[in-house]
Amino acid sequence: MTAQPLKGTTVVVLGGTAGIGLATARAARAAGADVVLTGRDPGRLRAAADELAPLATAAFDATDPVLLEAFFRDLPGPVDHVLVTGGGPYYAPLAEFDFDQGQRDVDAHLWLPMRVARAAVGTVRPGGTLLFVGGTGGRRRGVGLSLIGALTAAMPALVANLALEVAPVRVNLIAAGFVDTPLSARLLGDGLEARRAELRATLPVRRVVQPEDVAALALHVMTNDALTGATFDVDGGQQLV
Ligand SMILES: NC(=O)c1ccc[n+]([C@@H]2O[C@H](COP(=O)([O-])OP(=O)(O)OC[C@H]3O[C@@H](n4cnc5c(N)ncnc54)[C@H](OP(=O)(O)O)[C@@H]3O)[C@@H](O)[C@H]2O)c1
Repeated sequence: MTAQPLKGTTVVVLGGTAGIGLATARAARAAGADVVLTGRDPGRLRAAADELAPLATAAFDATDPVLLEAFFRDLPGPVDHVLVTGGGPYYAPLAEFDFDQGQRDVDAHLWLPMRVARAAVGTVRPGGTLLFVGGTGGRRRGVGLSLIGALTAAMPALVANLALEVAPVRVNLIAAGFVDTPLSARLLGDGLEARRAELRATLPVRRVVQPEDVAALALHVMTNDALTGATFDVDGGQQLV
């Protein structure tokens, strides 16, 4: 492996104001990188910026193609790595399925990576990475999981093909199980503590996966320039039990 130190690089985090994105931005700053942070909510973005002193920030919805293109065009210079996080999954039984919401999920998981990859050409330095975040939960089959199952199956293929299309920029996917983030807290509400306890008792790693665990994997993928076109699971063994 040719280790590519993060020190002195620029890491863009789309969805960098909470959860996995914020933890990765923190870890990148601690490793000596500059960061560019985005998120939709200006208040959350300001709070993250106060903590991390980013090179630049932008408040916009990353699934808006016009705003996304403008963001990449207006970056202060070439960048090294782009991490894309974003909204949570959508699942609902077919009878209750909301196709508009489903369409937004397709935008976020298929069109957004393709648009980011196209924008990255000429913006991301050779050997740099595009890193997307998906999940392992959608590998399970069940009522209500049709769309998330299809998107979960599609993302590794998408990432592998994009890795060929934009080489020598590298493209990879992180597939996470339950991660203890604000998103998980929102989804579980009052059930959060019980879910944490269940995971501590049942996961092979006997602890709950934290956003910092995903951030550590993200930094490894950024700095190990042998990695491209691949999907990396981080779920504490959740899919095995
Ligand atoms: N947490 C888990 O257990 C888990 C498991 C598997 C996969 N994932 C996936 O990992 C990704 C990150 O999850 P997380 O748990 O870190 O979520 P989170 O705690 O809600 O953080 C999401 C971040 O993305 C931003 N964001 C959301 N939608 C956006 C959009 N359309 N445009 C720009 N920024 C956007 C949020 O800020 P604003 O809301 O202000 O925009 C926030 O900064 C999600 O795609 C999620 O589905 C999470």
